[in-house]
Amino acid sequence: MNIIDLSIREKIYKKKKTQLSILNNFKLKVNAGEKIAIVGESGVGKSSLLNIIGLLDKDYSGEYTLFGSLTDNLHENELAQLRNQKVGFVLQESALIDSLTIEENIKLPLYYAQAKKDFFKQEYFENIINAIEIKSILKKKPLECSGGEKARAVFARGIIMKPQVILSDEPTSSLDVENSERIINLLFKMNKEFNTTIITVTHDLEVAKRHDKVIHLERRK
Ligand SMILES: Nc1ncnc2c1ncn2[C@@H]1O[C@H](COP(=O)(O)OP(=O)(O)OP(=O)(O)O)[C@@H](O)[C@H]1O
Ligand SMILES: [Mg+2]
Repeated sequence: MNIIDLSIREKIYKKKKTQLSILNNFKLKVNAGEKIAIVGESGVGKSSLLNIIGLLDKDYSGEYTLFGSLTDNLHENELAQLRNQKVGFVLQESALIDSLTIEENIKLPLYYAQAKKDFFKQEYFENIINAIEIKSILKKKPLECSGGEKARAVFARGIIMKPQVILSDEPTSSLDVENSERIINLLFKMNKEFNTTIITVTHDLEVAKRHDKVIHLERRK
């Protein structure tokens, strides 16, 4: 079954006098449990596409059906619920909250999801923490952490709700080889164990090739 059926005519960014049109006639269908990599040069629209897939941006022309619902017909609270519970984000500039510890930051999505709280298992949390080796920074504040440590914390927060779809925007760009490997392995493990759908934007072709499909975004000629 297609959990994502997206057809974008175009996404326009208006500038003062000109406008930029991207993602022209872009179509994407994704089955549950598929692993998709998105590659393409800087500025082509990869992050913009993830924002649309992740329901952060509705300002484009086209049709988008997610989990069988036409997103146009969904109310803001239904969209918010989908964003919180079914779609996990690891976006390029997702910031951590400086006044909270790393552990509190990672668990933050749980507080927005009262109804689903009981599903939370400490064991799952610990699996994540161990898999990406951030146990030692859990009690620290973001300002006391390195860039790579923060990137891994952002990743953990993105998957804490055990989402059905994980959208990652260059999840390994600030990490060394070993930590990149930990992140990618955890993504693939979730895919195997929970049939999680994985959509990864990456500049790393080796990482891209390990997905089921690689989508090359190109500029309109
Ligand atoms: N909020 C915005 N307002 C105006 N233009 C924007 C905005 N966000 C992105 N753009 C422009 O849209 C184009 C696509 O941007 P996007 O961030 O989606 O590219 P990308 O493929 O993710 O690039 P990168 O690999 O550098 O992250 C770029 O030319 C960018 O300058
Ligand atoms: Mg980007």
